[in-house]
Amino acid sequence: MPPSRLKPGNVHVWVVDLATAPATPDVLSPSEHARAERFRFAQDRRRFIASHAALREILATYTGRHPAALEFMTLPHGKPALLSGDLHFNLSHSGELALVALAAGSELGVDIERIRAQVEMEAIARRFFAPSETETLLAYPEPEREPAFFRCWTRKEAYVKALGGGLTISLSSFVVSLEPARAELLSGVEPPWTLHSLDVHPGYCAALAVAGHPAEISLLRWPPNR
Ligand SMILES: CC(C)(COP(=O)(O)OP(=O)(O)OC[C@H]1O[C@@H](n2cnc3c(N)ncnc32)[C@H](O)[C@@H]1OP(=O)(O)O)[C@@H](O)C(=O)NCCC(=O)NCCS
Repeated sequence: MPPSRLKPGNVHVWVVDLATAPATPDVLSPSEHARAERFRFAQDRRRFIASHAALREILATYTGRHPAALEFMTLPHGKPALLSGDLHFNLSHSGELALVALAAGSELGVDIERIRAQVEMEAIARRFFAPSETETLLAYPEPEREPAFFRCWTRKEAYVKALGGGLTISLSSFVVSLEPARAELLSGVEPPWTLHSLDVHPGYCAALAVAGHPAEISLLRWPPNR
């Protein structure tokens, strides 16, 4: 595959179809192998291997390195990053899809969730969301409440993942918009962060948080040419 190019200010988001992406364990590191082995169910193991193999293959096209030769470090609260260079990435997976978001020189976070029923929306909102988000959510009529819940969830997670603070960041300390058309960080956030909805696949909800205003966000499909 020809090398991928990423202009500063642009973001590439690869949508990985885990059902068709090859689950090739040979490119994984010993620690990734060990993590894969810890999954109890074969389906979860396959998805983990496919998403991490895709992450390595995608990063390889930008860095010119062999997928197996890429070296990662773990930032203080668990965010993985490349050991060298200024290519930033973030991975998210849910159901049969994974997202790999990349930017040159700008930190970013991405989150995808399969929209599923039987989620205790109100209980989760009251526990994790800011009070004004919960109020907005509960004002939606029933059929619109579920997608609004997942918009809120993925927008909050994308921002937390961009910061890299993991569970050390209180999810109720900042407020995101819930409306479909405009993903926004409404309060509790310092510049330069911006939030963006990603229209990835029916039945899924996804969001991206980036340091700065990206000039262009491109959605790309992995594996390519299928
Ligand atoms: C780990 C966490 C960063 C994201 O978890 P998640 O949404 O379950 O999982 P995602 O698939 O979106 O992301 C996982 C990937 O993010 C990356 N990641 C791990 N720690 C990270 C961190 N601190 N910051 C950013 N990215 C991180 C890894 O690549 C990880 O992939 P891997 O586990 O296959 O190695 C963390 O924020 C978390 O556990 N959040 C759940 C909080 C919650 O309870 N939310 C309730 C509703 S809002």
